[in-house]
Amino acid sequence: MNLHIFDTAEQIAVAVGNMMIEQLNEKPESVMGFATGASPVPTYKYLIKCFNEGKVSFKDMTTFNLDEYCDLPVEDKNSYFTFMHENLFNHIDVKEENVNFLNGNAEDSEAECVRYDNLIDEKKIDVQLLGIGQNGHIGFNEPADKFTKGSFKVQLTQSTIDANSIYFDENPMPHYALTMGTVSIMKSKKIILIATGASKADAIYGLVNGEITPNCPASILQVHPDVHIFMDKAAAAKL
Ligand code: GLP
Repeated sequence: MNLHIFDTAEQIAVAVGNMMIEQLNEKPESVMGFATGASPVPTYKYLIKCFNEGKVSFKDMTTFNLDEYCDLPVEDKNSYFTFMHENLFNHIDVKEENVNFLNGNAEDSEAECVRYDNLIDEKKIDVQLLGIGQNGHIGFNEPADKFTKGSFKVQLTQSTIDANSIYFDENPMPHYALTMGTVSIMKSKKIILIATGASKADAIYGLVNGEITPNCPASILQVHPDVHIFMDKAAAAKL
């Protein structure tokens, strides 16, 4: 694992953004896995800035997002579809037909997960961006008895509901989501994880120094051959 510790979230954004830009400049048709949550937002801002300065184009890029809520209209302000469009896709030249999401409202969620995994297997993700939950979750792979495999429907834990419900006011936060599974994430050629703030320190300890266990789903990244963890000092405090 490659550990990168910075003073500020802005410095992380520049370092992660430059790694992604290098990938896209070397291979414009790269397949990029994107994440939601607060952690990648500064990186998305930096990518938009570099796009406006002509340093990178996304016109041949294909994207896959990690997860999506169930039972939430796709146009809701809190859907991950809306999040990605507002924070990145609406501001760059990615083609909408190359943007892929799990459909959290699919009638047959199992078939929807198979569709998504088949597409990922066909395209193959070059770089997967990740955040990490306070309980060590990646995507919505919550602590459990076993590591998950492909995409699946998950019941969110109270820790995740408490952390994410701050974004919900009118509609209550959904308790279910569709997420890429651990094996789907591990198939990505390169993985970049961003963690900032003291609330992530225990999860980062589990990820880097803990035993590899489904109780801390991120710990599986220890066996991936090309992982970069970008942290601020608060998130790295327990290492
Ligand atoms: C959500 C997302 C994860 C994300 C995590 C951390 O649960 N499903 O993909 O990594 O939150 O979010 P944040 O970066 O806001 O702390």
